Amino acid sequence: MADKNQARDKFGSRFGVIAAAAGSAVGLGNIWKFPYIAGIYGGAAFLFVYLAFILAIGLPVMLSELIIGRKSQRNAFGAFKVLAPGTPWKYIGILGVSAAFLILSFYGVVAGWSVQYIILSIQDGFSNRSPEQIASLFTTFTTSPIRPVILQLVFMIATGAIVIIGVKKGIEKYTKILMPLLVVILVGLAIKSVSLEGAKAGLDFLFKPDFSKLTGEGVLSALGHAFFTLSLGMGTLITYGSYIQKNNNLVRTVIEVTLADTVIAILAGIAIFPAVFAFGIEPTEGPGLIFVTLPNVFHQMPGGFLFSILFFVLLTVAALTSSISILEVVVAYFKEEFNISRKGATVLATILISMLGVLCSLSMGVLEPVKIFGLNFFDLMDWISANLLLPIGGLFIALFIGWFFGRKKVEEEVANGGKLSGALLSVFMFLVKFIAPIAIAIVLMNKVGLLNFG
Ligand code: PFF
Repeated sequence: MADKNQARDKFGSRFGVIAAAAGSAVGLGNIWKFPYIAGIYGGAAFLFVYLAFILAIGLPVMLSELIIGRKSQRNAFGAFKVLAPGTPWKYIGILGVSAAFLILSFYGVVAGWSVQYIILSIQDGFSNRSPEQIASLFTTFTTSPIRPVILQLVFMIATGAIVIIGVKKGIEKYTKILMPLLVVILVGLAIKSVSLEGAKAGLDFLFKPDFSKLTGEGVLSALGHAFFTLSLGMGTLITYGSYIQKNNNLVRTVIEVTLADTVIAILAGIAIFPAVFAFGIEPTEGPGLIFVTLPNVFHQMPGGFLFSILFFVLLTVAALTSSISILEVVVAYFKEEFNISRKGATVLATILISMLGVLCSLSMGVLEPVKIFGLNFFDLMDWISANLLLPIGGLFIALFIGWFFGRKKVEEEVANGGKLSGALLSVFMFLVKFIAPIAIAIVLMNKVGLLNFG
């Protein structure tokens, strides 16, 4: 990636842009987090609220971030200094950097679990085990004090190394081939899962909503997850937007990335919930849900041995293409604000985040009794970043585009010679000016008790 005064590195092709943004969006959020929180907050009702947030808030905020990045040609923090010099808007960037810190600390831990499951798959560790034994395999591993910490560190070092190599070589190349392969594997898993005995209860759980199950906490989590899964609210896509060529059709990029992300989350849901019910696992199992469910499916599948290796390899790669985009936010900030080299900034950020990550990992085991606001450290990092920092970041990004940047400049940046019709532009402006900020504010106020919807 370039220094301020060099020509900035650009994604090479249209597909490269989508590959990189989709690479950031598609990750543990889709395959690990979506099923487990959907399981906790009532299945279909959660899914529908989450989809509504994706449409009404995710799409417009994603377009806003890309506009800010491409127009300013800067990272999340510098962008606001260029577009709104001398104003406090730049603090949105600081919020984003903090969110990136917290997210990567627990993200690296879960990615480390995925690495462990590659190893277990290769050792054929799932065959001839009962669902109970598979569940205890997970608990024994995640609660131990050493191995998960080491694997988290290995993953973080890999993330840092790729970030040092740079944008095109680091991101575009990997995503192009491996993301389609991930979809193929998920489809295969979904087919197997749906054909298990008792699968229908799982499909009903995921697609037949019972809105009475929905709580204020569930709605907040659906909102937070809409941001988390699309990599929004902390400036990741501002940074990526700054690498997008001027002739790229941003609206189309936004629609394609959102569609890919959503389809992959739903596919993951179809792969998991039928199996959850077929094997008598609780949908409210929590962060271990995919790790205690999928191995049962693998060892009943023809070719399950290879399938499970491939699945966890791809999950780890999907995690990597997301984690580099998270680290990039912190690195770009350190580099430009503290004038350190790219390499130095990456090493520093990786070390600091990994230290926080060690606490997250230990909080599954030896530090489990330590609770803050009733949550262990791992859940606390997740909760604060996804449910608080990202929605607040998104709220201000929408306000910035709607009220400060304004319709005329949006039109100039997005139009590419008139590709966005007037009607669509009006819908977009209405969403960023009113709908997104008001909806986010209501959900957050409900949570802190200023409004009460239960
Ligand atoms: N979207 C990623 C996922 O779903 O796994 C996680 C993520 C990446 C969150 C980048 C936030 C971000 F800025």
